[in-house]
Amino acid sequence: MTKLRWGMIGGGEGSQIGPAHRLGALADGLFEFSAAALDHRPDVGRSYAKTLGVSENRAYGDWNEMLTSEAKRDDRIDLVTVATPNSTHFEITKAFLEAGFNVLCEKPMTMTVEEGEEIVKIANKVGKLCTVNYCYSAYPMVRQARAMVQNGELGKIRLIVTNFSHGHHGDADDADNPRVRWRYDPKMAGVSGQFADCGIHALHMASFIGNDEVEVVSADFASTIQGRELEDDAMVNFRMSSGIVGRLWTSSVAIGRQHGFDIQVFGEKGGLKWISEQPNQLLYSKIGNRTEIIEKGENNLHDDASRLSRVAIAHPEGFPLAVANIYVDIAATINGDVRANLPTAADGLRSMAAVYAATQSARKTGKWVDARPPMFR
Ligand SMILES: NC(=O)c1ccc[n+]([C@@H]2O[C@H](COP(=O)([O-])OP(=O)(O)OC[C@H]3O[C@@H](n4cnc5c(N)ncnc54)[C@H](O)[C@@H]3O)[C@@H](O)[C@H]2O)c1
Repeated sequence: MTKLRWGMIGGGEGSQIGPAHRLGALADGLFEFSAAALDHRPDVGRSYAKTLGVSENRAYGDWNEMLTSEAKRDDRIDLVTVATPNSTHFEITKAFLEAGFNVLCEKPMTMTVEEGEEIVKIANKVGKLCTVNYCYSAYPMVRQARAMVQNGELGKIRLIVTNFSHGHHGDADDADNPRVRWRYDPKMAGVSGQFADCGIHALHMASFIGNDEVEVVSADFASTIQGRELEDDAMVNFRMSSGIVGRLWTSSVAIGRQHGFDIQVFGEKGGLKWISEQPNQLLYSKIGNRTEIIEKGENNLHDDASRLSRVAIAHPEGFPLAVANIYVDIAATINGDVRANLPTAADGLRSMAAVYAATQSARKTGKWVDARPPMFR
């Protein structure tokens, strides 16, 4: 099969998410790294792209140059990944979709609900793929959890409890570090800090495994370090359209917690627990029985978990391979084999609507607020 041509914007040397995309996109030989505008400093970006094997004439200084040039090529890229800071996602994603490119955008997809709605409309109009990197949903054991819920193995789901809480911004003496400070500054980060950064992964996961949509939220936001305008800790209660009760805690000041992402799903016939720091295992408690450990790679997994288990049972698979699973599904979709489990622009929009709803709720001491995007009400 011919490799698809892949381009990347952002994710330059030293960035947090750049390496995971490169490992993920290139892991299965489905894509070749054809074009890039990797850094906000044009020369640095060009030079780093060349060291990664991108040819000189496709190692661009900025994304506008990349768009103009790629749009004219017969061998234009088949997919662009947008891995720049949040405030640039909307304009880059919009411009590439309108020019007819498939896009994988980092989360959050946009900074406002209106922008999110615009992206959904444009993606529908141009008929191109627009997906958002909710990569945790591509771990095999998360796919197993979703399939078990869909298959009725837990019965009706009553309750989902999820946390995405770490302690990496918990040092008050480091709060002025520019790499930390912008996250709590509304001019740079928008209306929400920690909830928009990490909480939306947990909320997406609740929808993904619970196979349901968030309808209303009630939030309590706190800024625990002096000088921070936006929240570094949030507790968000939510209700889903089928009546599932949701509880979500997200924090960046929970010192001692490292990645700190976990989810528990409680149904009338049993419960599941998945922890991102032990991603190869899913804990399953059937009512009246002991807790079992379901392992990635074992026999009799649901198909979607089985096909995404890469190496032999008990050999760890990690974050880059979860990102690789997103790229596997993107390649399948571009090649005409639509994968239902890929996150969509609508998911990106729902996240942003939930962020705005939670922000409003927190300002009104936890009043319940409609979290559905206006276009889906
Ligand atoms: N899906 C996930 O699990 C996950 C994890 C981490 C980060 N992210 C998201 O990825 C995005 C990037 O986060 P990060 O932590 O890697 O940031 P970072 O600050 O570590 O890196 C950002 C990179 O983008 C480059 N850049 C900035 N503006 C640019 C522009 N206009 N054109 C080209 N390049 C530009 C910078 O030079 C840098 O290389 C954010 O939106 C973040 O929310 C997602």
